[in-house]
Amino acid sequence: MRFKVTVLPGDGIGPEVAGEGIKVLERAGERFGYNFNLHYGLIGGAAIAETGSALPPETLHMCQECDVILLGAVGDPRFDDPKREIHPEDGLLGLRKGLSLFANLRPVNIFPSLIDSSTLKPEVIKDVDLIIVRELTGGLYFGQPKRRWQEEGKRKAVDTLFYSEEEIRRILKVGFEIARGRRKKLSSVDKANVLQSSRLWREMAMEVAMEYPDVELEHILVDACAMRLIRRPSEFDVIVTENMFGDIITDEASMLSSSLGMLPSASISGLPQGRTLGMYEPVHGSSPRRAGKDMANPIATILSVALMLRYSLGLKEEALAVERAVQSTLEEGYRTYDIMGEGKTKVGTKEMGNLIAQRI
Ligand code: IPM
Ligand code: MG
Repeated sequence: MRFKVTVLPGDGIGPEVAGEGIKVLERAGERFGYNFNLHYGLIGGAAIAETGSALPPETLHMCQECDVILLGAVGDPRFDDPKREIHPEDGLLGLRKGLSLFANLRPVNIFPSLIDSSTLKPEVIKDVDLIIVRELTGGLYFGQPKRRWQEEGKRKAVDTLFYSEEEIRRILKVGFEIARGRRKKLSSVDKANVLQSSRLWREMAMEVAMEYPDVELEHILVDACAMRLIRRPSEFDVIVTENMFGDIITDEASMLSSSLGMLPSASISGLPQGRTLGMYEPVHGSSPRRAGKDMANPIATILSVALMLRYSLGLKEEALAVERAVQSTLEEGYRTYDIMGEGKTKVGTKEMGNLIAQRI
């Protein structure tokens, strides 16, 4: 079996972590008898530097023609000036929108060997096993109007939090379906005490819940959710939420698992049923300060490869093999700088990738 993979290394540490992701993917292919045809494309700052566009049409085309996409990271200080028209991040947003990758899945699990690396107490995080389902192609990121202007010499700006009922229904359904396959608890996160879009969201959640009588639905306000995530995170099973809320609480949730360098993500265009187009990427950004230093933790990307095998290629056993390889590497005491602890062995990006690949 042959799969066509588009690789978008992107900016900063992106190429380094994507390289290790590919190393592990190819090792899994060797071990289980699959071939991966890799096609490399430009995105983000790297694409702006070369073509002037953050998402060149060839890149979008490659992504439309392949089975899955692996992305490193985007973000480049050379193009950060807020007055610029085009930003590296536009490439990522354009891809999400252009491929209708409306469901972003960000699982948070605790590796027992890392329990002491978290800044939170072991007893708080020890039973954490949750997944955040973030809406990815609507809300504040994309709503119109979205612009800056001047009136009587004063600067003004607007972003719009817009959702249609179809957009809300389809992401809620992903949340319910995933909850059905897990502990059957869905927390719908909104700000219905203030926002109209959240009131619609809550109404829709109650409607969709009728189709899932076996799943227990709770509504929780986003501020309360932020608090409960560090107070009693193990109470959560599946969280479903709006784009911006999801962006914020997933960075927060990454700290449960000790480092942003550990959190994978899947962005898909439907239910995670094994043959769905998807883009897989670490939750972390391009970390320009660490770029080119062989320091970055590649585990978030490697775990994203596991999600790719499971959700887009239907290769469950292979996904598990990657996750187990990560686990044994950590159990044997290997650590990148971000998860380093006393008495552990510090390794760089490449060596971490090698160690994990060898254990598949
Ligand atoms: C993420 C990132 C992106 C986002 C940035 C890089 C545009 O923070 O995937 O969480 O805000 O969605
Ligand atoms: Mg984010």
